[in-house]
Amino acid sequence: MASDADFMARALELAERGRGFVTPNPRVGAVLVRNGLIVAEGWHKVFGGPHAEVECLRDAEARGVAVAGAAMYVTLEPCNHFGKTPPCSRTLLESGVSRVVIGCLDPNPVAGGGLDLLRQGGLDVTIGVLEQECRDAIADFMIYKTQGRPAVTLKLAMTLDGRIASRTGDSGWVSCEASRRRVHALRASVQAVMVGGGTLRADNPRLTHRLEPDHALAGNPQPLAVVVTRRLPAADAPLALVRERPEALVILTGAAQAASAAGKGLAKLGVRLYGLPEAPDGSLALLPGLTRLREEAGVYTILCEGGGGLAGTLVGQGLADELALFYAPKVLADDRARAGFSGLAVPCMADAAGFRFCAVTRVGEDILATLRPLAVAGQLASQHP
Ligand SMILES: NC(=O)c1ccc[n+]([C@@H]2O[C@H](COP(=O)([O-])OP(=O)(O)OC[C@H]3O[C@@H](n4cnc5c(N)ncnc54)[C@H](OP(=O)(O)O)[C@@H]3O)[C@@H](O)[C@H]2O)c1
Repeated sequence: MASDADFMARALELAERGRGFVTPNPRVGAVLVRNGLIVAEGWHKVFGGPHAEVECLRDAEARGVAVAGAAMYVTLEPCNHFGKTPPCSRTLLESGVSRVVIGCLDPNPVAGGGLDLLRQGGLDVTIGVLEQECRDAIADFMIYKTQGRPAVTLKLAMTLDGRIASRTGDSGWVSCEASRRRVHALRASVQAVMVGGGTLRADNPRLTHRLEPDHALAGNPQPLAVVVTRRLPAADAPLALVRERPEALVILTGAAQAASAAGKGLAKLGVRLYGLPEAPDGSLALLPGLTRLREEAGVYTILCEGGGGLAGTLVGQGLADELALFYAPKVLADDRARAGFSGLAVPCMADAAGFRFCAVTRVGEDILATLRPLAVAGQLASQHP
C-alpha cells in the first residue's frame, strides 16, 4: 500500500514542473488522495497564478472527484495571506478535506501560519513528510528570500576523472546531446548564466538558450550573461557577448578595472561593470556582485557554467548552492587536462567542501548528479512541533 512518502514524492515531481515558470515564487506540488489512491493533482504553474492546492482542487472538480473527507498532500505549508491569490489555508478549510499532509513549513513570515489555521479549523495535519526533499525543492526560493542574492546552480560537464576540457582547452563536447539539451532548458529557467574569464576567452560563448520551438520553456526571455574577470576584453574584441549582446552582459571585475579606460569603453557599449572588493585570498569576493545582480538586474536564480577556476572560487566562498554535474562515460587521465574545480589550496581531506547527493539520474549516455552543500546558510531550522 502506498505511504505518505509515496504521495509526497508524487507531489514533489509535480512541483518540479513549475521550474522556469514560477520564479520568484517557490515551486509547489499537491495531490489529493482518497482510499489510498491519488485522485487529483496540481502544481503552481505560473508566477501570479493559482497555488498548487487550488490547482489540485480544480483538477478534482474537473474529474468529478469528491473532495470531502479526502487528504491533500502539499510540498509546502499552505499560505495564509492575501497575496496575488487568496489564502490556500482557508480554501482548504472550506473545501472539506479532512487531512492535510505538509512537506515543510513556509520560511516566508508573510505567507506562513497556514498550519495553525488548519489545526484550529479541526483538520488532521501531518507535517515533515519528505521534509528534506521538500526543503530542497524551495532551496532557491529560501536563498533569494532570506539572503537577498540569487541562488546559484553550478553546472559542469565532466569526464569520469573530473575534467571539463582537454589540456588544449578543447571541451566540444564532453557530454552527450541529451545533456546539452538539458542545459539549454536550465538556461531558459534562470535569469542569468555566468562563466569565468577563462571560458570567455576559450569558448567565446553566447550563453543563450536555444531550445526547439515546441519546448515549454522556449518562449522564456534570454538570460543575462555574467562574466567574472579582471582581464577585461577590449570593446572591439571579437567576442559574441561584446559584439552581439552588450546590453545583456554584466562583468564582475575589480574596482580598478571597472573604473579603467577599458571598463569605460565597454560601458559605452551598454555593458554593465560591477567593481567588486577582494576576498582575503586576493580573489574577487563574489557575494557583493551577486547581491547587485539580485537588486539591480532582477536575477533570482543564476546558472554558473564554469570553468574550473570559477567553480573552485564559488565553492571556496560558499556560494555554490546546487551542483548539477553531468558525468560523461569518458576518461582523459591527463594531468594537464582542465579540472572541474580548481584554484583552492586544501591540505586536509577533513577541510574539503562537503555536499550531499540529492538525485542521480541517467541523461542519454551521461549521469546527472545533483548535489547540495551539507551546511546551507540561511536555511531555517525545523520549527514544527
Ligand atoms: N565542460 C564544461 O562544463 C566546461 C564549462 C566551462 C568551461 N569549460 C572549459 O574550461 C576551460 C576554462 O577553464 P578555466 O578554469 O580556465 O576558466 P574559468 O573558470 O572560466 O575562468 C577562470 C578565470 O575566471 C576569473 N575568475 C573566476 N573567479 C574569480 C574570482 N573570484 N576572482 C577573480 N577572478 C575570478 C579569473 O579571470 P581572469 O584571469 O580573466 O581575471 C580566472 O582566471 C576552457 O577550456 C573551457 O572550454 C568547460
